[in-house]
Amino acid sequence: MSELITDGAWAVGLASIAEQSGNVLEVFYPSPALGLADAPHELIRAAGHDAGSGTVEIHGHHAAELGASELGDAVDTDDLRRVRMVCVLTVISDCSAPPADAYDAYLRLQLSSHRLATPGTLNFEGIFGALTNVAWTDAGPCDVEDFAATKMRFMAAGRALQVRSVDKFARMTDYVVPDGVRIGDADRVRLGAHLAPGTTVMHEGFVNFNAGTLGESMVEGRISAGVCVGAGSDIGGGASLMGTLSGGGSEQITVGEGCLIGANAGIGISLGNNCVVEAGLYITAGTIVTTGDGAQLKARELSGASNVLFRRNSTTGAVEALERGGDWGSLNPDLHAN
Ligand SMILES: CC(C)(COP(=O)(O)OP(=O)(O)OC[C@H]1O[C@@H](n2cnc3c(N)ncnc32)[C@H](O)[C@@H]1OP(=O)(O)O)[C@@H](O)C(=O)NCCC(=O)NCCS
Repeated sequence: MSELITDGAWAVGLASIAEQSGNVLEVFYPSPALGLADAPHELIRAAGHDAGSGTVEIHGHHAAELGASELGDAVDTDDLRRVRMVCVLTVISDCSAPPADAYDAYLRLQLSSHRLATPGTLNFEGIFGALTNVAWTDAGPCDVEDFAATKMRFMAAGRALQVRSVDKFARMTDYVVPDGVRIGDADRVRLGAHLAPGTTVMHEGFVNFNAGTLGESMVEGRISAGVCVGAGSDIGGGASLMGTLSGGGSEQITVGEGCLIGANAGIGISLGNNCVVEAGLYITAGTIVTTGDGAQLKARELSGASNVLFRRNSTTGAVEALERGGDWGSLNPDLHAN
């Protein structure tokens, strides 16, 4: 398990707030900063923030003094969506404490997607309670509570309004486009994903918040919340790395370096380095595996082990964990020079 960061964070952002409900629909922080030691404390106070944990609305000129010169120009009210956009200044004094509200949650998600904090190092406990459900439309985020009225205002104005998703989480690429990364389908990567340079997420790949990659990698399967994948690993098409948010898994999973999780395979245990899971084989923590010397044990006892090939013996049906050397072919360098 990674250690939680106990340092703080701060950022200037643009928040979209539903006029009727007061719900915070989204907050865009263009340049989030981790660590408070070098924060411009005087400017933060001058903007009206006491520098403790929390968020205040600030004037555009304060946003400019704090380094976000264009944000003030975006302050506006959208009469069709009934959403007002305001400049805010958010401070988190300790990232190891759970998120206090939507502003705080959005800042943590963007710290992760800006690769300032790796999966497992920010506390996201209770984030579902901090975020509100949003109708993500082609005209921007809309309040779910009042959506029918919003739709009618758009129709009356002769405008179409398409809903891309209804979710508490936004798409990462609407806020952060990290360099050195390819993403086949932006809908499949949630804000809060951590994608290292050299990562390719193919169309069927999925990366949740507080999850992702630490180096070059091929993601054609699903990386659930809390899961971290090491450099040089390949998550095959349709493969699943089990998370802990729902359905019983309790171990926070990591995949080491140079691993191959075969197509339609899955793991509910962690892998060390240079492991292979045969295509189609799902290893849960309780799966009984037979080792090369004939011993039988639960897969969780091999959690984190390196140089293991997991396969289902096609003659006996037994799941085997065999020591392996060599190479499974490794990543194709042409695909990761992003
Ligand atoms: C498990 C896997 C890695 C084995 O591949 P490999 O190391 O190349 O092994 P081979 O197929 O050459 O087989 C080596 C030996 O093991 C045997 N073997 C392989 N899989 C076996 C199984 N499931 N049960 C019994 N024997 C098996 C082979 O018959 C062969 O025996 P031999 O030495 O007597 O000829 C491979 O089958 C696999 O599943 N790869 C995943 C690829 C993938 O999904 N990539 C992602 C794409 S999106």
